[in-house]
Amino acid sequence: MTSKIRKAIFPAAGLGTRFLPATKASPKEMLPLVDKPLIQYSVEEAVNSGIESILIITGRDKSAIENHFDISFELEQLLKEKGKTAMFDQVRAVSDIAKVSYTRQKQALGLGHAIYQAKDFVGNEPFAALLADDLVDAETPALKQMIDVFEKYNAPVIATMQVEGEAISRFGVIDAEEIEPNVFRVNDMVEKPAFADAPSDLAIIGRYIFTPDIFQAIEKTTPGAGGEIQITDAMRLLLKERPFYAVKLDGRRHDAGDKLGFLIATVEYALKRDDLGGDFREYLRSIDLNS
Ligand code: UTP
Repeated sequence: MTSKIRKAIFPAAGLGTRFLPATKASPKEMLPLVDKPLIQYSVEEAVNSGIESILIITGRDKSAIENHFDISFELEQLLKEKGKTAMFDQVRAVSDIAKVSYTRQKQALGLGHAIYQAKDFVGNEPFAALLADDLVDAETPALKQMIDVFEKYNAPVIATMQVEGEAISRFGVIDAEEIEPNVFRVNDMVEKPAFADAPSDLAIIGRYIFTPDIFQAIEKTTPGAGGEIQITDAMRLLLKERPFYAVKLDGRRHDAGDKLGFLIATVEYALKRDDLGGDFREYLRSIDLNS
């Protein structure tokens, strides 16, 4: 088994019910955060972390994702004719970003089932899985932070972040020991525990590095909550056979698959933009928040 992480998969076949009605006919991964669709941020994160080849697992009504990473011939032609070189370069850069392929998850039977659709693409290599609605704004790309841990321990790595108080109940949570600053060896994990039962304040977020034995674990996983094959259940099975590590990411995470999380991310990302931040900040200052 090669130990270099060359491949990343993006499960994007979920129904996005938290963002209805916008997600009725359009994929949530294509919601524009400032001016880029959500999924482009994590694809860029993967590429900036050294990923060479990408598989996006799509479902019905997701063809906009494929079109986004494809060449848009008519648009490019038009921009060229009008001499809009900067826009042309921007549009072309998206299709040149990486080698992207697609497969379909025919039914939304859970994240574990979606990841299983990548079995042939992955072959016998470790690989990364990124959930596009979890945005991580970080100086060192989140996936790169995880790859560094993988390269040291040669075992699966889960991304986590600290969540204060009762909000921990909305996440998968790890029970783990810190073995070096911000790196943990995982003993166990539980999905959405009651606050009182949470084994730690470290929540699992949407970035994983798996070894190919995750596929055998998914095969052995019986459907859990909602008839879905949960990736946490598959990881727990595998945890009986091999060590798992977790990293507490250095960065700010946004749940952009949630309406409020998306609004917060939009404001923060817009404020950071050189071309928009100044005017936007001025506008925000002018709002009377007490009315
Ligand atoms: P979520 O739990 O966010 O579910 O899935 P969702 O369907 O996308 O959104 P809500 O909760 O209904 O609003 C986590 C990730 O797993 C993918 C989703 O696309 C998302 O990236 N997923 C989930 C699949 O690809 N297939 C599934 O069957 C379920």
